[in-house]
Amino acid sequence: MGPTSMAANLERTEPAGFDLKPREIVEYLSRYIVGQEEAKRAVAIAIRNRWRRLQLSDKERAEVTPKNILMIGPTGVGKTEIARRLARLLNAPFLKIEATKFTEVGYVGRDVESIIRDLVEVAVGIVREEEIRRVEDEAQQRAENRLIDALLGTASGEFAERGTTSTSAREQMRDLLRRGVLEERRVQIRVSGTFPGGVHVFPLAGMEQLEMDLSNMLERILPKRPEVREVTVREARQIFLEEEREKLIDKNRISEEAVRRTEETGIVFLDELDKICATGRSGHGPDVSREGVQRDLLPLVEGTTVNTRHGPVRTDYILFIGAGAFHHAKPSDLMPELQGRFPIRVELSALTRDDFLRILREPESSIIRQYEMLLRTEDVELEFTDDALETIADIAYQVNQTSQNIGARRLHTVVERVLEEVSFHAPDLAGQRIRVDASYVRKQLEDIVKQEDLSHFVL
Ligand SMILES: Nc1ncnc2c1ncn2[C@@H]1O[C@H](COP(=O)(O)OP(=O)(O)OP(=O)(O)O)[C@@H](O)[C@H]1O
Ligand SMILES: [Mg+2]
Repeated sequence: MGPTSMAANLERTEPAGFDLKPREIVEYLSRYIVGQEEAKRAVAIAIRNRWRRLQLSDKERAEVTPKNILMIGPTGVGKTEIARRLARLLNAPFLKIEATKFTEVGYVGRDVESIIRDLVEVAVGIVREEEIRRVEDEAQQRAENRLIDALLGTASGEFAERGTTSTSAREQMRDLLRRGVLEERRVQIRVSGTFPGGVHVFPLAGMEQLEMDLSNMLERILPKRPEVREVTVREARQIFLEEEREKLIDKNRISEEAVRRTEETGIVFLDELDKICATGRSGHGPDVSREGVQRDLLPLVEGTTVNTRHGPVRTDYILFIGAGAFHHAKPSDLMPELQGRFPIRVELSALTRDDFLRILREPESSIIRQYEMLLRTEDVELEFTDDALETIADIAYQVNQTSQNIGARRLHTVVERVLEEVSFHAPDLAGQRIRVDASYVRKQLEDIVKQEDLSHFVL
């Protein structure tokens, strides 16, 4: 397949998983997140709208900007979890970032435009994967040929000297390789080598653009030193394969396609948005930097162009999903312009005791299942009875009421405590089946729950 037909192919493909229907998205999310239907539906619709928009003509499409979403709800009820699961589901460039990363306190020399740069890198990763899959067969063939050359000692002139060995010798070697009998055999290979010393330019605050340009430039002008290494056939195959993949993929096309996908399908999840609200007394101190972050974010959300190492990226059609507890600050404490950019508001509800029970029971990777898996590695079989789960849900709910309400996170601290004993002694319990019932749960937690002070610290 020539480079042109490859590129044409690449341009036409939409990522798999991109055309998911709202119902399918909600179904997927529900495998991990209990309740919060309103938020799940809003997110699913917004994502479907990305697909719908791409079905329009260029002219129509230009008119349709995404309706950004603001998810509001108490701590520990699933806001970030929804984002995490979406990121895995969608084969679209998706980036989750805390807005607080850009306030002075958390300042590590990042400007808000780095959000878009990171998003493009995610897109590059996705497109690169697809491109590698496309060239894989060819890369494998070439790697095998180089491996044969190396084993027959004809590698010095790359493919040039191939004619000097008889076809039958090559085919015999190929056969041996494919039968896997040479894997541990050592062989000398010539590899294209790495940059001398490894180039790295340290980022300076606010100068990421410069850093980027410098690294790019250095990568281009510094010569790569070829080197000869002695490795096993197994390693040589891997090295050749990676080199051949790199040669076969079209990097410019990847950049172009990644930029296009970022612009058309990119999603940014801005977490902790409530924490960049000014809280009352404004004028100086942290409030100034928080409002500064809002002001910096505004152009991104409104639509601007950000320079990245893969080219300029327009942010007009990127979907932003904001989330925050908004305990102390209200959405109306955000700058009006920013508020206006998040027209869809969804509230996540506080979790009930029954929700807790479902969270323990239902999700595929529930904390209970995680523990069962972990202890199975020690050959310990955990068995939770129904009343044990009910008791854990009860206690978690109760502690949330009397102490601070941290939502489902409380389940983690409670379960952690219930299993502390087993977890510690597990290596000595190999081969056993541990039954965790209500009375066991109560026994492990009794002292702590009774003393409210203590539960503050321990649970
Ligand atoms: N509705 C839910 N279903 C299943 N698990 C949940 C649910 N809500 C929270 N959890 C679990 O509780 C933990 C905390 O949830 P998450 O990180 O989503 O909280 P959050 O809403 O983002 O809170 P915060 O405002 O403090 O950031 C996660 O491990 C998550 O799996
Ligand atoms: Mg969160």
